[in-house]
Amino acid sequence: MRSINDCYTLSNGVKIPCIGFGTYNAKGGDNLAINRTAIEAGYRYFDTASLYETERVLGQAVRESGIPREEFFIVSKLWIDERGYQEAREAFARTLDRLQMDYLDLYLIHWPRGKEGDCDWKEKDLDTWRALEELYQSGKVRGIGLSNFLPHHTENILKNCTVKPVVDQLEIHPGYTQEAAVRYCFEHDIRVQAWSPLGRSAMLDHPVLKEYAEKYGKTVAQICLRFLLQKGIIPLVKSSAMERMKQNQDIFDFELTAEDMSIINNMPQNTWLGEHPDFAIPKKKSNFAQ
Ligand code: A2P
Repeated sequence: MRSINDCYTLSNGVKIPCIGFGTYNAKGGDNLAINRTAIEAGYRYFDTASLYETERVLGQAVRESGIPREEFFIVSKLWIDERGYQEAREAFARTLDRLQMDYLDLYLIHWPRGKEGDCDWKEKDLDTWRALEELYQSGKVRGIGLSNFLPHHTENILKNCTVKPVVDQLEIHPGYTQEAAVRYCFEHDIRVQAWSPLGRSAMLDHPVLKEYAEKYGKTVAQICLRFLLQKGIIPLVKSSAMERMKQNQDIFDFELTAEDMSIINNMPQNTWLGEHPDFAIPKKKSNFAQ
């Protein structure tokens, strides 16, 4: 990989850029301006979700850029309360409507299970998946996948699917590398994507990472992103400023040694952001009316 829009090939043959731009919860709030700036900075792969409430402004920024839709890689996700066969079909239609697009590059199930008491989550995920398979087969989406699915959640899909998930999007950054889940994905040819690759900036003051930043003449953010790139994981990086959007692309002219990779990989695993599919559920609800 030599630049952010160089691609991996997913298991269904679709090409996916090696770095994406995350649209969740941008600081400063002006998501339209941020997406416009990100396009200007060169990003073409954008990750959104019905939960984020950024689909409308992303669609607008893409249209107004004048760049053909086919040059973008647009990913969205359905939320916990949009799971189910009919619900998923309707959620997908709402997403396309908000984006004002006629297809997606990837569509993902955002979260594998609901609150405690969501006893039928396995069945629900399978009903949802069936709807996604049909959307894929009808050509409305170029690939279907998962987000925040751990091996036991994914196993349920793999045992029963006719179309395999091509990606799984997980919280991954130095200090929370989710090795078991990542290994499982690689073994099953599911490309891993990392949300919050900078640990929502919590890692930026880490003394060990700061030492590496000095050693390689880069910033801590660039060390975090390069670490993921060398693991074959796609970082979905967010920033509200052109300068940092560009800085986050400048990671192709250095390489972390195998020893440094190992040290970062094996840092204490104590910086997860507190959202785990089996142990804590995000409280936010989707807003169909957005
Ligand atoms: P900002 O919008 O001011 O650039 P994550 O993707 O792990 O959730 O982290 C996102 C946070 O990291 C944002 O608050 C963003 O702030 C900050 N950020 C993004 N890129 C950089 C960078 N290169 N240097 C410092 N902070 C960054």
